[in-house]
This record gives sequence, C-alpha cells and structure tokens, in this order.
Amino acid sequence: MNKPRVWLTRSIYAPAVQKIAEIAEVEIWPAESPPPPEVILEKIEDVDGILTMLTDPIKSNILDRAARLKVISQMAVGFDNIDIEAATRRGIPVGHTPGVLTETTADFAWALLMAAARRVVEADREVHQGIWRAWGPDVLTGKDVYGATLGIIGFGRIGKAVARRAAGFSMKVLYHARKRDEQAEQELKAEYRDLDSLLQDSDFISLHTYYTPQLHHFINRQRFAQMKDGAIFINTARGGLVDHEALLWAIETKKLAAAALDVFDPEPIPDNHPLLNHPNVIITPHIASASTQTRQKMALIAADNLIAGLNGKRLPYCANPQVYNV
Ligand code: DGY
Repeated sequence: MNKPRVWLTRSIYAPAVQKIAEIAEVEIWPAESPPPPEVILEKIEDVDGILTMLTDPIKSNILDRAARLKVISQMAVGFDNIDIEAATRRGIPVGHTPGVLTETTADFAWALLMAAARRVVEADREVHQGIWRAWGPDVLTGKDVYGATLGIIGFGRIGKAVARRAAGFSMKVLYHARKRDEQAEQELKAEYRDLDSLLQDSDFISLHTYYTPQLHHFINRQRFAQMKDGAIFINTARGGLVDHEALLWAIETKKLAAAALDVFDPEPIPDNHPLLNHPNVIITPHIASASTQTRQKMALIAADNLIAGLNGKRLPYCANPQVYNV
C-alpha cells in the first residue's frame, strides 16, 4: 500500500520529521521564509496531511482544493491563521501544541516587562552606538517592577504562568477573563476585575488572550485612554488584538511610559511603521516560545497530531474537537 503524503511548510526538529517519515512520504518546504499562498494552494491538492506554522494562511479557498486532506497539524498553540469552521465543515481535524510552550512564553513576557520597565533595550542600544552616558541621577531611569500592580488580560495557561512569576516581585496581580477562576485566584493571589477597573489600576498590563475576529482591535484608543498614566503595555498574544494606531497615540501623548510587543499585525511590521521611531517601544519578531527545548517539544507534538490524523485516530491535541461529533 502507498504511504500517505505529507507536506511540512518548514523544516522542523529532525526527530519529529523522522517519526513522520516512518509512516508517510514527507516533503518539506526548503526555505526559512514561509511558502507563498500560491505554493500552499498547489501543494494542498496533493497531500493527505499538512504540518503548518502560524504564518501559513489556511483559509477556505485553500481548503476548497484539499481534496484528499485528512489532517492539518499546526506547530503553535494559536491557530487563527486557519479557518477552523471551514476545516470542521470538511471533517478535517486541526492539531495544535498547547501546554509545552506555556512557561517559555511566560518567561518571555516577563523579559519584555522587565526590559520595558528598566529601559534595557534603549540602554543597550546607546552603549552599542558608542554612547555611554556618565552615571547621573536621571540617566535612563525607569519604573519599579517590585511591588507594582500587574493586570493580566486572559487567564489561561500563559496568563496564569505570568501571574506566578509576579509573586517573586511582590506584585499585586489583577486579572480579567471571560470566566472567573476562583481556585486560581486563591493559588496565585490574583484578584478578578472587570476590564475597566483592571485598565485603570494596573501599572503593567499584559495581554494573553486568543485572537478571534470578534476581538480584532480589542485594545483600542478608548482602552488605552483608560489606562493609568505612565503604564506599560505588553503583548505576547496576537498583534490583531491591538489597534497599533491607538498604541502610537498612547506612546506619543506619553499616556504610556513604554510598550513591549512580540507580535504585530501584520507580521513582519512594515519597516516605515512610526512605532519603530520610539525607543520606549520594544518590538521583537514573535519569538516568545522560541527556546530550543520548547520548539523541539512543539515539533514532536505536531508530528504526533499529524500521524494520528493520517491513521484516522483522534488527535492528541485537537483545536476543533467538534469535528468528531459531525
Ligand atoms: C503560538 O504558539 O501560538 C505562539 O504564538 C508561537 O509559538
């Protein structure tokens, strides 16, 4: 019997590829940059499984061509690049990789918070440019993290992991989420707030929600205006959650002291974007989960999801479990 055919839209951890190759014929997009949509369109016609990254738009028009596709396995926890409804309608399970990247992503959110508070990137840039300003009472002064109030929006795995780190800095932790989690409130000494009061009372605000079209520009000008004067805003979730024109307003009016973004909309950020002119805006290229160990674990889970789908088994981590009820 012929082996199923799969296409990996990027080269991943070799042991994960080997696992897949034991049961399937594997083709891998060879470049470091994502395949263009027209290549995805062409490849998807011909494969039983596809292993995708968050940079690959798997929309309805692409799925229309996926005559023999049995499974989509995304190497990320987020899957807003995939039209889940369209995949479900076609009976295609979509895998993702929750859990393994929680702590790594929370570490990075924390790194951004610390860097923005203490102006680490700005200071480093000055020194690299040959500017070592003499020690002075006001040179590169930032904000204290210790004892400050942290507002976390979205209290899933990553939001909670960020809250856990805050304990070491004696921070007061506020959170907002669709549902209250009283057990987590006790464990993490976190206080539930409605969004308005969280925005008003937090010195640091960190975003940890999934992106859905309903949450497009969820953090808009009105919400920035509600924040405390001099607050610091951190986004390691998805760029589409934030209206970046509104963020620019908040930075230029000094409503915010700083912002740190690991995600943007679009990605990459256009190279003439005005936020790039502000030294108090840190922007990193969507690397919050990028530790070697975590990326290896993500690749192995993505391989397991792909293999399960090819074998007609339930995916260990399925983003659209409703697919099994139709
Ligand atoms: C995800 O997994 O969704 C992150 O954004 C990247 O690892």
